[in-house]
Amino acid sequence: MWKDWIRPFLRPLPQWSTVAVAPPQRMVIATLRWDGKSVDVTGDHTVASLKPLVIATSLDAGQRPVLEYIDSATGKLLGALHLVRTASIATEETSLTLYHVAAGEHRCLGWPRRSWNAWLQNRQMLKNRSSHHFNMETAGVQQLMIAYLCPRPVVLVSVGAPGHQNIFPMDLIGPLGRSGLFSLALRSTNVSMPVMREVRRVALSNIPAAMKAIVYKLSEHHKHALGDWNALPFPVRKSREFGIPAVAAALRIQELSIVHSQEIGSHTFFLCRIVSNEDLAEGAQLHHTAGFHQAYRRRQDMPLAEA
Ligand SMILES: Cc1cc2nc3c(=O)[nH]c(=O)nc-3n(C[C@H](O)[C@H](O)[C@H](O)COP(=O)(O)O)c2cc1C
Repeated sequence: MWKDWIRPFLRPLPQWSTVAVAPPQRMVIATLRWDGKSVDVTGDHTVASLKPLVIATSLDAGQRPVLEYIDSATGKLLGALHLVRTASIATEETSLTLYHVAAGEHRCLGWPRRSWNAWLQNRQMLKNRSSHHFNMETAGVQQLMIAYLCPRPVVLVSVGAPGHQNIFPMDLIGPLGRSGLFSLALRSTNVSMPVMREVRRVALSNIPAAMKAIVYKLSEHHKHALGDWNALPFPVRKSREFGIPAVAAALRIQELSIVHSQEIGSHTFFLCRIVSNEDLAEGAQLHHTAGFHQAYRRRQDMPLAEA
């Protein structure tokens, strides 16, 4: 019994929690604040690069806005990121703003556990440096966890081109609501990145939470292309317009046409238009959130279902 009590003081919380959430999530609301203004960007902000950590939104929120994450059930501020404007992207008669994350803090754990947990997590990251987020600085990973206070849906991205086919998981994705665009941030070393830039089309499968193990296994295809669609451990079905094989058991299949791509730090940032949308089933989708967010929800007696 005393071991249960002492454990949180000796072991860090997991950085990430895989959870089952019915999309679109509104349990955590993201708000951009600047110059006395405040705008809901829950469906209008996304990660554009991990190293450096860059956030994109279709709003221009001035030079130094603050991005706040608020629990919609209790109104509590869960965390905030302090942003610095770095650039804008103009494409397709719309424009986006890129913000570098300068600092961040969360309120999911009380003091002193908050600082102690961060210290334990950072120590663990430094020990296993090579396996953690492209050698991101520990402060960057802590800020990334804050960005995941809004649980991020996981999809499988299918690429189909003559001589190249692939399917791999992504969660650095999302709508940039006001612009009508949808973005994907893909590590530039991904084996399909050059093909995506050339063929300018992909299919996205929204994945049921029960497929977690299969999805994780497919992360090897960030490095190696897929040999044969028939070798996948689940049935595929062709996407509506492009005919790219996607997951037959998906909750939703969307086809995206890529209208712009550029390198931002460690990642290639793709901006896309949604060409088709097939809603196939209702249900909980696999999502990622921060481990300290799940710990907060447990304390509130409202934990997210673990996937
Ligand atoms: C569920 C899941 C989601 C992922 N999302 C992304 C993503 O959005 N962008 C990306 O570049 N890589 C993504 N990855 C790939 C990982 O960041 C990593 O590159 C891949 O697992 C290979 O890991 P390794 O290079 O450490 O062997 C994802 C992996 C998993 C399992």
